[in-house]
Amino acid sequence: MQRHGPWGRAGAYAEVCPPELPLIIEKIMESGRPLDSAIVAVDRALRAVFAPAIAARGIPGPSSSADPLPEPDRRESAALMRVNHAGELAAQALYHGQALVARSASTRAMLLSAARSETDHLAWCEARLKELAARPSLLNPLWYASSFAIGALTGLLGDRASLGFVAETERQVEGHLDEHLGRLPESDTRSRAILETMRSEEIAHGAAASAAGGAQLPPPLPALMRATARIMTRTAYWL
Ligand SMILES: [Fe+2]
Ligand SMILES: [Fe+2]
Repeated sequence: MQRHGPWGRAGAYAEVCPPELPLIIEKIMESGRPLDSAIVAVDRALRAVFAPAIAARGIPGPSSSADPLPEPDRRESAALMRVNHAGELAAQALYHGQALVARSASTRAMLLSAARSETDHLAWCEARLKELAARPSLLNPLWYASSFAIGALTGLLGDRASLGFVAETERQVEGHLDEHLGRLPESDTRSRAILETMRSEEIAHGAAASAAGGAQLPPPLPALMRATARIMTRTAYWL
C-alpha cells in the first residue's frame, strides 16, 4: 500500500504551494539567518494586523471636537476611511515583503524606513475610523498576507525592480487618494486633512524610490497592480 507523508498523497503540497514560494524560502535561507528572518516577518505581520498602530506625529487637520457629521456623511466617510486603512496596511505588507528579500542593505533600510513612515498613515486612519464609530476591514489579515507575498515576489526580481514597484504603487495610491478626496463628504474636514497629508507624503515616497534607482515597470505589471488594488478597495468599502 502506498504510504503518504504529512502533506497527503505525493505532489499534493506542490499543488497548493505557489511555484514562487520555494524561491522566497531559498532567498531567506541564503540570508544565513532563516529563523531570525521568519520570526521578524511574523512579528511584523502580527503587529501590523492586530496591534494598535502608534503614530509618531499627531493627526493632521482640525480637532475631533468639531460637530459630528450627519449620519449619511458619517457612513460614507467611514467606508472610505476603511478602504484607506486597508490600503495603508497593504502598503506596510508590500514594504515588509520586499525588505525580506532585498539584496542590498541600503534598499532594505529604505524599505523598512518607508514602512515606518506608513505607520503614521495607518494610525491616523485607524484613529479616524474610531472617531467615526466604524471598524476596520474584516479581511485585513488577507490584505496583509496577499500584499506581503506580492512584495516578496517583486523583491525577488531585484532591488531596481523593487524600487520601481514602490514608485508605481505610490503613483497609483496618489490617484486613488485623488478619487477619495473627490468622494469625501464636504462636512468631513478632518478626514480630508488626513488624506491630503497622506497624498503629499505618498508623492514623496514615490519620488524617493525613483531617485534611489527604481526601474520603470513594464506592461502589463502596472495594469495588473491596478486591477489587484481595485479588488481590495471595492471589497474593503463594505467589508
Ligand atoms: Fe501611506
Ligand atoms: Fe507611501
